Amino acid sequence: MTKIALIVGSVYGGAQYVAEQAEPLLASLGYEVALYEEANLDTVLGFEPDIWLVISSTTGQGDIPDNVFPFFSEVKNRFPLLTGKRFAVIALGDSSYETFCSAGEQFRELLLDIQGLELAPMLRIDASETLEPETIALPWLTEQFKTR
Ligand SMILES: Cc1cc2nc3c(=O)[nH]c(=O)nc-3n(C[C@H](O)[C@H](O)[C@H](O)COP(=O)(O)O)c2cc1C
Repeated sequence: MTKIALIVGSVYGGAQYVAEQAEPLLASLGYEVALYEEANLDTVLGFEPDIWLVISSTTGQGDIPDNVFPFFSEVKNRFPLLTGKRFAVIALGDSSYETFCSAGEQFRELLLDIQGLELAPMLRIDASETLEPETIALPWLTEQFKTR
């Protein structure tokens, strides 16, 4: 079974809620999913995921949420190569900020740097346009993950 590590970055619970809805959806599509609310690199690597799925909001001025920042730093410092493994990023943000979805962008660049293959262009969800990010994220996930 293809394994997905679902890594969440959230301040106010929006991205967390999306991830909690995504977990059973992806399981129903036939994946083995592990959801990490406070991801730790060794724990994630120990799961041996085929796909890394990051769902993260942006905080501050383009910053990565505190709950996932230690993980981001660990990946950056230890640089575990994802060679041949796939990843996808769902970025929650607000287009009224100049740094729209910057945390998602930073994750995307890092995962490309460690040789991950992006399985779909990053999804950006704009809080100025919807208060229900899951209504955008879940159909997108179904579309991207149904045949893989
Ligand atoms: C204090 C604060 C700072 C924010 N900074 C940014 C930002 O720099 N860029 C951005 O795209 N969105 C920013 N946002 C918007 C959030 O990323 C967006 O509302 C998101 O849906 C929140 O998700 P969460 O509930 O998982 O934290 C900010 C929101 C708050 C309250």
